[in-house]
This record gives sequence, structure tokens and C-alpha cells, in this order.
Amino acid sequence: MQPSMVNMKANPSAFAVYVHWPFCLSKCPYCDFNSHVRHGGIDETRYLRAYEREIASLAERIGAREVSSIFFGGGTPSLMQPSSVQTILDAIARHWNIAPDVEITLEANPTSVEATRFRGYRAAGVNRVSLGVQSLDDAALKELGRLHSAQEALDAIAVARSIFERYSFDMIYARPHQTLATWAAELRRAIAEAAEHLSLYQLTVEPGTPFFGLHAAGKLAVPDEDRARDLYDLTQAVCADAGLPAYEISNHARPGAECRHNLIYWRGHEYAGIGPGAHGRLNIAGKRYATETEKRPESWLMRVEARGAGVTVDDRLSAGETADEYLLMGLRLAEGIDPQRFSALAGRPIDPNRVSFLREQGTVELTAAGRLRVTQSGFPLLDAVVADLAA
Ligand SMILES: C[S@@+](CC[C@H](N)C(=O)[O-])C[C@H]1O[C@@H](n2cnc3c(N)ncnc32)[C@H](O)[C@@H]1O
Ligand code: SF4
Repeated sequence: MQPSMVNMKANPSAFAVYVHWPFCLSKCPYCDFNSHVRHGGIDETRYLRAYEREIASLAERIGAREVSSIFFGGGTPSLMQPSSVQTILDAIARHWNIAPDVEITLEANPTSVEATRFRGYRAAGVNRVSLGVQSLDDAALKELGRLHSAQEALDAIAVARSIFERYSFDMIYARPHQTLATWAAELRRAIAEAAEHLSLYQLTVEPGTPFFGLHAAGKLAVPDEDRARDLYDLTQAVCADAGLPAYEISNHARPGAECRHNLIYWRGHEYAGIGPGAHGRLNIAGKRYATETEKRPESWLMRVEARGAGVTVDDRLSAGETADEYLLMGLRLAEGIDPQRFSALAGRPIDPNRVSFLREQGTVELTAAGRLRVTQSGFPLLDAVVADLAA
């Protein structure tokens, strides 16, 4: 990862709202997100009432805030009617102030049907879309179980470009059969279509998914560690050359065009999670809480209708837990973390012996401004580095 220091100033009072829409047209065989297929359809109006209620209860609990980012994630939020997106945005605006430069992102699948709704989302207030392109190769899209072709994805990108000020798309690499040469060509093609932001994820074979079973049975060959590392290095080099350096381990942007919403997570700020299976981190009366809502859509719905909120986990985080989370999330960023903020949160500094050891290994470095960050060669070992520092 080429270090890209994010221009946008960290704002400690930044507050984001994440809205999870948990429905998809079909389940992709690699996906372990909280996404569900309902062949009989759903009662969208009834769900909307529940989203409105959950927003109202949360606002009652935490009080006034200024919202700097709203993110509709999924699942497939582009299956929602634009009027539903409008209803949820109106509910958020009824309870909290909305920052004049608010970022409102909606995740969309790039089928032609979904692209027809883009203008409606824009009219509702969405000003950024994130498209799940995944690949520009039809055979790979088929293997990933996607419902769109490469051409449909390109068409959806063109529609997004004509309607939204900002758009991004996701690609998955380190896929079966992928060589350095085929990925380099596909990535360059993707960069030619990208404006300011790209999310590039290495395929993870998640337990419980059909890909996991196929992999265990020897029927799905994914690149080994060395090949994955080469693909990662190639990705960093090609993107940096094109002016899209990584600002996070899987996210690339032109400086200044980073996704504000995700920065709020990685910088350890505050966010509310609305909808089935949404996570939140809330700061209330000087204490930090980790919240999770009921994952199963129908159970979430009934819970909200009965109690006003779908929350099932509401844990007060200790100082140590809050500090470790800051470390865990912040070290994903090219800008790294502020060791003084860690000390203030934890009530102790990061172990200097561990820092020295990792610096000697070349996996972390201290910047001139005194921030601690993972080096380019350390990024593929991020989990081990974090485990070492947090221990
Ligand atoms: C949960 S999806 C939601 C977006 C939308 N439903 C879609 O699929 O286009 C968010 C992103 O996570 C990434 N993703 C999901 N499962 C993954 C996996 N097992 N390995 C790598 N990336 C994955 C995909 O790039 C996807 O676009
Ligand atoms: S990858 Fe996206 S479309 Fe596919 S099942 Fe997961 S959330 Fe749904």
C-alpha cells in the first residue's frame, strides 16, 4: 500500500448513520453478509415504519447530533424504491441536524433494472453510489454467481457517472484462475472507468458459504499466499501509478475523495446502526457502547414493532476495549493512528518494546508527525501486527 495521507481533517464529533437493507435477489456463493432472499417479496411499507421507529428510539436515547454521513448498505439497497430511501432520509432529518456537506451513499448492484432507479435516489438526496461490479470478465462474474454481465456493469457505471457527483465501485481479486497478467489488464480497465474511488477486495473464502464447501472439497482453487501477495503488490503499484493510492488496506481514492463514512469507522468515531444486523458505536455521557441489532429481518421487524428498537447487543466498552478497537481499525488506514489518543483512551501507552520490535522488523513506522502506521510491506501481515500491539 502506498501511503496516502488523507486530506480530510479528522473530526472527533463526526457522527454517521448506517442503514442496513438486508434483501438480495439471490445469494452470491462467497458472501457471508447479513443478506436474505425472499422469493415471495416483502412488505416494504411495514419495514419502513420499523426503520422510522428505530431511528426515533435511537434519537431519543442519544439526543442531538449533526450527521456527516449516511450509508445505505446491504444486502442490496438498490432494490429499495427511491421513495423508501426518501422516507428514511426524512426520518433521520426529523431527529438530527444534517451537515450541509453531508455524504449520502447507497450501495447498488449494477443490473439494468437497478440503474433505472438511480435518478430517483439522486432526487431523494443520495449524492454518492457504490456499485458492486466485482469483475469485468463474464466468466468470472458467472463463477461468482453474479446476476449481471460485464457490459451491464459498464452501463450502470455510465448511468452513475451521469447522475451522481461521486461514485465508487467494488472489485474482487485473488479469484480462481486469476493470473497477474489477467488481473493487471482487468484492473487497468476498471481504473479507466473509475472517477475518484475504488474498493478492491481480495476474495475471502468465508466459513458457512458455498465457496467454503467447494474449497474444502478441492473444487475451488484460490491463489496461495505467495500469489495473493503478488496480486496485492501489483494492485498497490498499478493504483498508485494511476493516482488512486490506497488510503485503507482495500480502499483507493484520489486524495480528498475518500469515503467519509468508512473513515468514521476506521478513525474510531461515532455511528448509529439502523436495520437488521446493523452495528453501531455510540458515545453517551462519556461512555462508549457497542450495539448490534437482531439479524433476521422478520425477527428484527417484530422486535422493533414490539419494543421500538431491534437492538440485541448493547455493551459498554471498557477503556482498554475502546483503545484496542481504535488500534485495530486505525492501523488499517495509511494515515495510521495517533499514539497519544491511544494512551488517552487506554490510560497507558502502547508498549514501547513491541513498537521497537515491529519497527526493526519493518512492519510499522513512526511518521514525522508522530503517528504510528503500518508500512507497505507490513500491510499483508496486518492481523499479526495488530495482535502484537494490542496484546
Ligand atoms: C456485502 S456487499 C454489498 C453490495 C452489493 N450487494 C453487491 O454485492 O454488489 C459489499 C461488498 O463486499 C465485497 N465482498 C462480499 N463478500 C466478499 C468476499 N467473500 N470476499 C471479498 N469481498 C467480498 C464485494 O465486493 C461487495 O461488493
Ligand atoms: S454479495 Fe451483495 S448481492 Fe451478493 S449476496 Fe452478498 S450482499 Fe447480496
